[in-house]
Parts: sequence; C-alpha cells; structure tokens
Amino acid sequence: MSIPESEQQLLLETLKAFLRIPSVSTDPNHKADILLAAEFVAAKLRSAGLAEVQLISGAGHPMVYGEWLGAPGKPTLLFYGHYDVQPPEPLDEWISPAFEPTVRNNNIYARGATDDKGQALILMEAVARTLARTGKLPVNVKFLIEGEEEVGGEAIEAYVKSKPARLQADAAIICDSEMFAPELPTICVGLRGIIYGELHITAASQDLHSGVYGGAVPNPLQAAAEIIAALKGRDGKVAIPGFYEAVQAPTMAEREAWASLPFNEEEYRAKEVGAKQLTGEPDISVLERVWARPTFEVHGIKGGFIGDGAKTVIPAKAVVKISTRLVPNQDPAIANRQLSAAIAAACPVGVTAEWKLIHGAPPCVVDTANPFIEAAATAMERVFGNKTVFIRSGGSIPVVGLLQKELGQPCILMGFGLPDDNLHAPNEKLFLPNFFRGIEAIEYFLEESAKA
Ligand code: BES
Ligand code: MN
Ligand code: MN
Repeated sequence: MSIPESEQQLLLETLKAFLRIPSVSTDPNHKADILLAAEFVAAKLRSAGLAEVQLISGAGHPMVYGEWLGAPGKPTLLFYGHYDVQPPEPLDEWISPAFEPTVRNNNIYARGATDDKGQALILMEAVARTLARTGKLPVNVKFLIEGEEEVGGEAIEAYVKSKPARLQADAAIICDSEMFAPELPTICVGLRGIIYGELHITAASQDLHSGVYGGAVPNPLQAAAEIIAALKGRDGKVAIPGFYEAVQAPTMAEREAWASLPFNEEEYRAKEVGAKQLTGEPDISVLERVWARPTFEVHGIKGGFIGDGAKTVIPAKAVVKISTRLVPNQDPAIANRQLSAAIAAACPVGVTAEWKLIHGAPPCVVDTANPFIEAAATAMERVFGNKTVFIRSGGSIPVVGLLQKELGQPCILMGFGLPDDNLHAPNEKLFLPNFFRGIEAIEYFLEESAKA
C-alpha cells in the first residue's frame, strides 16, 4: 500500500528542511551547518522513538548514533547513511539554488537530494513510520549516520574499531547508491576503492617573466602535464607500474549477468554522458570499465594565471588533485606506494613533485549468500513490481569495506537514486516517487528481515 498523499506532504516538508542545511563537509566555513545537520538527524531519530540517541563528537564532524533493541531473539540491522554533502559549485549552473530545495516534474532538486540526505532520510522515516503504526519494530535497529563520508574522514574508522560491541549487527543496510534504470530495483554488490591526494609541484623560487626566462627555466604546469600523461596511456590504461597485478577479473557469472542488463551504450554516451565518444580500455565493456577496472583521474589543477585576459608568466608552483579508483583485490596502501613511485619516476628535471595522500578506502564486493540480500530483493520487488538486479558501482563508500573487515557485517546496498540524479554535479535531484517507494520498501524490508 503506497503512502497516502497527505502523509507524503509531511515527508516532503521534512526532506526539504533537511536539504536546506548546507552541510558541506570539506568547507570549514560550514562547520556550524554540519552541526545543524547532525542535530537534525538526532532530533529525527529521537522523535521516531529511538533510544541512546547521541552525537559522537571527536576530531572531525560528529556521527549520530541511535538504537531500538526491543526485539530480542530477532536479527539486528545497522542502518548507515551520511548527512554531509559535496560542495555545490559551480553555482551558476543550478536552475534553482543548491540549498533551496525545489520540486520540478516530480523531482526534488538540491545538493544532497540523492547523495545522501534524501536516501538517509528514507531509512529514518521507514523506521519512524513502522514505530508510529505498530509501536514496535520486527527487528532490532541501530543507526550510524556520519558527516565525513564525502571527505573520506577517519572518525568513523576509529569509532567502528573501538566500538565493536555497540555496533554489532547481523547486516548493515545502506541507501547511498543508484538503481540501474528507472523502475528496476537494484542491489549494489561491489564498490570501487579510492586513493585521493594532491601533487605539489615546485620549480623556481618565484614566478618569472616568460619572455625574459622562458627557454632556460622549468615550468611546473608543463611538468604536471608530463607527469599526468605518463600515468595514463592514450588507450585508457593506467600506466603505474604494478598497478594491475592484484586486479581480479569479475567472474564469468558476473560478466554474463552484466551483459544481460538493459544497457544501451549509445544512449549512455549521448544522454547520460553527453560526450562525442566514450574512452577507456577498448576491449573491455563499459560496465566492466566503470565497475571493475582501476582508474587514474585528474580533478583539478591549480597554478599560473587563470584570470581573464593574458599574462605572460612562468608560475613557480602548481597543485594537481588526483584520484585513482581501486578494484578487488587492490590494496590502498600498496596502490599509494605504486602511485608515489610512478610520480617520482615521471617527474621531469628542474622541478620537485611531492605526492600528499588525503584519503583512501578499499574496494569491496558483497557476498550475496545471506538472507538479508533475499529480504531486500523481495521487499523492493513488492514495491517496484520488477525483478531485482544485482550490479556493482564505480563509486566508493569507505564504511562498507570497514564494516565487512572489522565487524564481519554483510552490507546490503539498496539504492533509490537514478542514473540522471546528477550526484556531485549541479542540479542534483531525487525522483520523489522513489523517495516514497524507498520508505515503503524499507518498511517491508524490516518485516522480511524478521524472518531471516
Ligand atoms: N554515494 C556515493 C558513492 C556511490 C555513488 C556509490 C553512486 C554507488 C553509486 C558517495 O557519497 C561518494 O560519493 N563517495 C566518494 C568517496 C569518498 C571517499 C570521497 C566517491 O565515490 O567519490
Ligand atoms: Mn553518498
Ligand atoms: Mn557522494
């Protein structure tokens, strides 16, 4: 039974209030907003009827914990989400402002709409509604909602390692991913890992006139280009020595399942990407390239004259923001050493290039042989009326590998985002029917999990 219109209005108002808080975790100017968002989550969990609700504050942004343990003998689920969001820039590309949630065509537009406030709220509202309707839950539930996911913060790692008993659960439930296609319920069973950092390149002791000195002095932007070009070939292969040694190919069964997904490469190129050609390793399918192959990407280059007009200067320094995505069984620490060595080897004469790691997370695959995967598939099928598909995703969610390794919890990734939700980009949105159906699906999932 879908959620009645009048109740949808209230849920929408709550979602809007959450989305109005500009909880950008990477920007120190938003420290107060981060706290507001954490308090919002805590208030929501309290009003839902959870116990032990508290902000866990340490070095970084606070996590929010809450629990309902009134179903002894029944399974315990750990619900994870994040209330922090990516920066909204470039601002002038937003049709409506990033932190003024606006509904158009059944979509709600705002930074965090799908990643991850909207989806984290799905979990909270599902529990709130079940408690309000029945006075209890069919299973035990713990919530851990963090504020540093988008910056790879380490607070959660330390917390998970220090509180195994408190966080003990039979499975972790995460709504922070996408459906493969509209109307196709989707469970994500693999994520890529990541290492992210900055390359600091320094040359002369100060900026120099390019006519007076050009021809005799090193240019850090040229050096950046040379290093970047040395680390990935024109064939899309990462050229870091040793980088592919640990890479494990997907199984035959996975490849077959991926080949049977409704994927139209031409439509993906034209509509979703909007580029004139796709790139990357030519003999590997697009889905395998984005789900099961490592990458090397440049995210930004700082240096030289970037104002309007012309200025003839040779800059003294440059910074390049770089990440590589990792796949099973690459190890972030080893990959980081390989990257660092490759940078040193590619660095041209006359400059120094210093690699500074910012954060890392391991890749992961989820073992589907557990009853909560079944429960999730059944619950979503009931709401969407289609068979659940199992996919991987190229994105990273650091907590998944952490929970699997430290606490042995299988992570059930039920995503309600859509491929055109523009996460991390301007005009991020959430398809409102998926917000409501997500809540419904999680309510069914609670029932189904009680049988597990
Ligand atoms: N929710 C995303 C990851 C994601 C996106 C998973 C789509 C599955 C489908 C998450 O918030 C994210 O963006 N993570 C960062 C990693 C972090 C360490 C900066 C990412 O993937 O860039
Ligand atoms: Mn996310
Ligand atoms: Mn994200």
